[in-house]
Order: sequence, then C-alpha cells, then structure tokens
Amino acid sequence: MTKIITIDGPAASGKGTLARALAEHLGYFYLDTGAIYRLVALSLLDREISPEDDEDTAVMVADTLATSFTTDMMNNSKLRSDSVGQMASRVAALPKVRDALQNLQRTLANNPPNGGAGSVLDGRDCGTVICPDATNKFFITANTEVRARRRYEELMSRGIEADYRQVLAEMDQRDKRDREREASPLKPASDAIVIDTSDLDAAQALHTVLENLN
Ligand code: DC
Repeated sequence: MTKIITIDGPAASGKGTLARALAEHLGYFYLDTGAIYRLVALSLLDREISPEDDEDTAVMVADTLATSFTTDMMNNSKLRSDSVGQMASRVAALPKVRDALQNLQRTLANNPPNGGAGSVLDGRDCGTVICPDATNKFFITANTEVRARRRYEELMSRGIEADYRQVLAEMDQRDKRDREREASPLKPASDAIVIDTSDLDAAQALHTVLENLN
C-alpha cells in the first residue's frame, strides 16, 4: 500500500520546505495541495472573476482543472504571488470548489506520479479530510511574527518589494479565513504530531519529522 505522510499548517509555517525535503529524502511524490487551489485562483484572477459573486464559474474552473491536471502545472511561477495566495484562500472556502478537487488530490496521493513508494502531502486539510488514514500526520506551526518574517524575507530574496506590517496583516487575514471557514477548516488532525518550527531551521525540522515516522 502507498505510504502517505500529511503535513498541514498555516501559511509560512515552513511546511512547504519541510514537505519537499522529506519527499526528496524518501523518494516519495511531493503534492503541494495549495498549488491546486492557487491554479483555480490564478484562472479566476486572469478572468477578473470574484468567487463570492460567481461561484458557478469558480466550480466550473475547479471541475475543468480536476480533469485536465498535470503535475507540471504546479511549477508555474505565477502561482507563488501573495495576491494568488489570498485568492486561493477565498476560493478554498467554497465547499463545491473543495468537492471538485478532493478526488484529484486523493488519486495523486494514492498513485504517486513519480512511481515512488509513497506521497507527502502539504496543505490545510490533508490529515483531516483528504487522507484521514495517512501513515503519518504532522501539523506544523510557528509564531505569527516568525512566519511573517520568513514570508517577508522570501519576498525580498525574490526581488519583490514588501512591507513587513502588510505581510503580517495579510497573513493573519488569510489564516483567519482558513481556520474559520466551515468547509474543511485548517486544524490539526486528532492524531497529528504538532511541531513548532519557531526555533528550528529547515534541517532541524526535517530531523524532527524523520525521528517521528512510523
Ligand atoms: O499552502 P498555500 O499557501 O499554497 O495555500 C493557498 C491557500 O489554499 C490557503 O490559504 C488555503 C487553501 N488551501 C486549502 O484550503 N486546503 C489545502 N489543502 C491547501 C490550501
């Protein structure tokens, strides 16, 4: 059976870096589930559509993505901007959009496209909803200031001018929406191991996860 490791947590908690490093270490497939919501968001931004005002189109975009998805779509650098992240959080609050994308995520998790023996999923609801029977579940946190600082430094290193206060405010807003929505909110699975990365670097976070694998 395919081994599945879920890594959920709020924005800039370090879960993406960790999940990617873990997948590489184990030879597993890395599935960035946030990128799937970001693909829907990018398409709506390109069409200037508000998901709250035109839910039918948002669901149609998600349905189309579910049938046409290829893993190289996740490499689109346009997906990484903060405006796409905010829009992804808005589309992700719509239950019908989530329904349209769930099977895609489960199918990829259980049938790793790289032929690996397992998958590492990074997201918000991977351990609670997408793969509740995962082999290992982790929930990654870090205090808000540390997360905003990481995000700010990431933007600056990519040559994108940013204001720390604004990064912090937008991150808070996105996390609040992701935590408080009714459909699959951001929360640790009851059997997840919670790791606070506020005082850990990437290598230490990976080491902690490896020590806790079944
Ligand atoms: O992990 P990320 O920043 O790329 O995710 C972008 C948004 O997508 C996030 O704010 C909420 C949504 N998301 C979700 O609702 N469920 C997931 N499993 C992954 C992401």
